[in-house]
Amino acid sequence: MDHTYTYQAVLAASERVNWRVEDLIGGDKALDFARPFMPESLARTEGLTFLSEDEKRVLNQIRGHEYLYVFGLVEEFILPFVLDHARVRLHDGDYRVRALLRFAGEEAKHIHLFKCFREEFVRDFGTRCDVIGPPQEIAHAVLAHHPLAVAFAILHIEWMTQRHYVESIRDNQDLDPQFRSLLRHHWMEEAQHAKLDTLMLDSLTEACGNDEIDSAIDEYVQIGGLLDGGLQQQMEFDLDAFERATGRPLSPAEREECRAVQRQAIRWTFLGSGMTHRNFLETLDAVRPGARTKVEEIAPAFC
Ligand SMILES: [Fe+2]
Ligand SMILES: [Fe+2]
Repeated sequence: MDHTYTYQAVLAASERVNWRVEDLIGGDKALDFARPFMPESLARTEGLTFLSEDEKRVLNQIRGHEYLYVFGLVEEFILPFVLDHARVRLHDGDYRVRALLRFAGEEAKHIHLFKCFREEFVRDFGTRCDVIGPPQEIAHAVLAHHPLAVAFAILHIEWMTQRHYVESIRDNQDLDPQFRSLLRHHWMEEAQHAKLDTLMLDSLTEACGNDEIDSAIDEYVQIGGLLDGGLQQQMEFDLDAFERATGRPLSPAEREECRAVQRQAIRWTFLGSGMTHRNFLETLDAVRPGARTKVEEIAPAFC
């Protein structure tokens, strides 16, 4: 494929990034509920003009809780996938094994990071926020797909994280410092993951014929559909939590407007922002010329 990534260079970059979960959250580093948690590009609460500023902030924070949970959930299938991929060729290069095990270790750290942030949220928010799951069941359904399809889904997630951080800066809002730090530190490590996932894709595609690659790309789209079903349920849970937290019942018309806006917001956050990422589309096309068109045709529904 057309890139210059190597396991050795990625490992070296990963070793230069060195943060601990405990440095980002806990102790005196509590969440500041006077501020929004999510960049507006992902939360999309500003357009709901019938909500007061306080209500928009509460909905934004509930979307932050959702972000913590859903990211922890997707990383539940990345971790075993990377371990399995490393294990089948343990003697195929020292840098490869070390880089992939470090990738897995970082994802385990991220799962822990999202859990710690979520515990802080649950402790201080004061209102129950329901979630989809359990994560292991969703991971099981994703991992039942062709490894190449799962690798595409993971590449999508890695590049998506890059975009989330860049957009949180561009939005230039007064975001909670802990949440901004979460997006930044996740971004720092996911930059290496995106390169490693591209290298994993190289070795997986070597063993596949064009028909197998075509059906794996179809399965990547199916994984997106599976996640979309869960996300739509999560969006309904978020609106329920909003009504509970604010004590403000939404009228049927308001609920419908919230649903329409938030349906696209959650789709953009976890699906559209990955599937339209330039680097993701370029890798897709390098693996199978023309494949990006298939994804670009369905992408507007998730943007
Ligand atoms: Fe991660
Ligand atoms: Fe990652």
